[in-house]
Amino acid sequence: MSQAELERGVAEVLIDEESLRGRITELGDEISTDYADRDVLLIGVLKGAVFFMADLMRELRVPCEIDFMAISSYGAATDSSGVVRILKDLDINIEGRHVLVVEDIIDSGLTLSYLVRNLEARGPASLEICALLTKPDRREIQVPVRYVGFEIPNRFVVGYGLDFAERYRNLPYVGVLSEEVIQAGE
Ligand code: IMP
Ligand code: MG
Repeated sequence: MSQAELERGVAEVLIDEESLRGRITELGDEISTDYADRDVLLIGVLKGAVFFMADLMRELRVPCEIDFMAISSYGAATDSSGVVRILKDLDINIEGRHVLVVEDIIDSGLTLSYLVRNLEARGPASLEICALLTKPDRREIQVPVRYVGFEIPNRFVVGYGLDFAERYRNLPYVGVLSEEVIQAGE
């Protein structure tokens, strides 16, 4: 699949590269200030958050480590069911650690709500959430998100880590997936 063909599925660029860079720099400043006297452990949710996390981490000026979790939610391609399974657990014991969960997007909130309960049970010193994107209109369950990159409308987006059936993660911007592609994929 060529880049041009990939982009054929994108109806509209929602957040361009420059806006992403600018906002991630701001988030990095904010987090660095908040964690000035604490070592932070970033926990990335595979796979979508990897791109955001790599850029965010390079904006942090505090000592930090990273670890990853992979979880899967069952359900249709563009809908979360809230049934969550851990595919890969953390390598690091988070007891007594200052944990910052890094997510690509919060939609219904069901995935993150499960994850937060799971991580809280392991006794971290603190636990906060940083999400690049959030769709407030879609929220079914409230999750306490400390840092948000962008609030976006209720559209299915791809790029900068976000996928549709594992495709489009490599786009350098966040774009709205075209209805044609969604229809064909479901
Ligand atoms: P939630 O459990 O409904 O909050 O779903 C969260 C997960 O669904 C995210 O981590 C994404 O993997 C996926 N997701 C939700 N909305 C989108 C979207 O617009 N594009 C791509 N993936 C999405
Ligand atoms: Mg995800």
